[in-house]
Amino acid sequence: MHPILTGKKGIVTGALDENSIAWKVAEKARAAGAEILLTNAPVALRMGPVKSLAEKLNAELVPADLTNLEDIEKLYSVAKERFGKVDFLLHSIGMSPNVRKKRPYTDLNYTWLQQTYDVSAVSFHKMMQTALKMDLMNEWGSIVALSYVAAQRAFAGYNDMTDAKALLESIARTFGQFFAKSHKVRVNTVSQSPTPTTAGTGVSGFEAMFNFAEAMSPLGNATADECADFVIILFSDYTRKVTMQNLFHDGGFSSVGVTEEVLKAFESYNKQG
Ligand SMILES: NC(=O)c1ccc[n+]([C@@H]2O[C@H](COP(=O)([O-])OP(=O)(O)OC[C@H]3O[C@@H](n4cnc5c(N)ncnc54)[C@H](O)[C@@H]3O)[C@@H](O)[C@H]2O)c1
Repeated sequence: MHPILTGKKGIVTGALDENSIAWKVAEKARAAGAEILLTNAPVALRMGPVKSLAEKLNAELVPADLTNLEDIEKLYSVAKERFGKVDFLLHSIGMSPNVRKKRPYTDLNYTWLQQTYDVSAVSFHKMMQTALKMDLMNEWGSIVALSYVAAQRAFAGYNDMTDAKALLESIARTFGQFFAKSHKVRVNTVSQSPTPTTAGTGVSGFEAMFNFAEAMSPLGNATADECADFVIILFSDYTRKVTMQNLFHDGGFSSVGVTEEVLKAFESYNKQG
C-alpha cells in the first residue's frame, strides 16, 4: 500500500466483521499511513469481532448509534481529544427492518420505513451536521458514504433500501455544497457492486443478484477489498476537487445494457424450453 494517507486521521463507521466494506477500509487506511478511530452500534460491538480489529490497528473503538445525535457528539468529542480535527469520515452503515422482516415494497410497514431512512440515510446528514457544528473537519477533508445503483434504477429485491440510497446520494450532493464552501471538505458516495457481507446477503435474492451483476459487469463485480482501495484514493489528496458525486465502483455494470454472457444464458434457458 502506498502511504498516501500519511499524517491523516479519520473515523470509520460500520466495521462488523472481516467481510464488511468498512473493515477493509480500516485496514487499508492504516496501511496507507492514517490513524483511525472505529465506531459501531453498541449491539454490534457486543456481538461482533470489531474489538480484535481495533486492537490490531491500534485504534480506539467508540460505541455509537449513528441515528442518535448525543452518541455522535460523544464520538466526535473522543476524536477531537485524540486527534484534534479529522481528515476523513466513512459512513458505511445501512439497515432496513422491512428487508429483514421480508415485507414487500408494496406493503411496507411505515414505522420500519422511518427506521430504514434514519439508519441508512439521515444518519449521514446527522454525522455531517454534527461535524460542522463541532468544527471536526480539517480543510480539504473527505467524507464518503456507500451507495448502490438501486438508488437510480428499480431493483425488485432491494425494497425500501432503494429509496434510502436515493436520499443518501441526495444528502451527499446537498451537504457537499455547504461543506465545500465552509471548509473545502468534499462529500461523495461510492456506488458499489453487490458484495457478500452481512447487510448485502440480507437482501432477498442476493445470490442471484450477485451472479447477474457478475454477468452484466465487463470487469466483473468489485470486491469489498477493491472498494476499500477506491475509498482510500477518495480520502487522499489525489482527489481534492472531486465532490458532490456518486461514483460507480461496479466493474462497468451501471453503463451496460446487456452483455454476451447474459444473452447466452437466456439462449440456453430458451432452448431448455
Ligand atoms: N453489501 C453490498 O452488496 C453493498 C452494495 C452497495 C452498498 N453497500 C453499502 O455498504 C455499506 C456497508 O455495508 P456492508 O455491506 O459492509 O455490510 P455490514 O453488514 O458489514 O455493515 C453494515 C454496518 O451497519 C452498522 N449499523 C447498522 N445500524 C447502525 C446504527 N444505528 N448505528 C451505527 N452502525 C449501524 C452495522 O452494525 C454494520 O456494521 C452500507 O451502507 C451498505 O448499504 C453494500
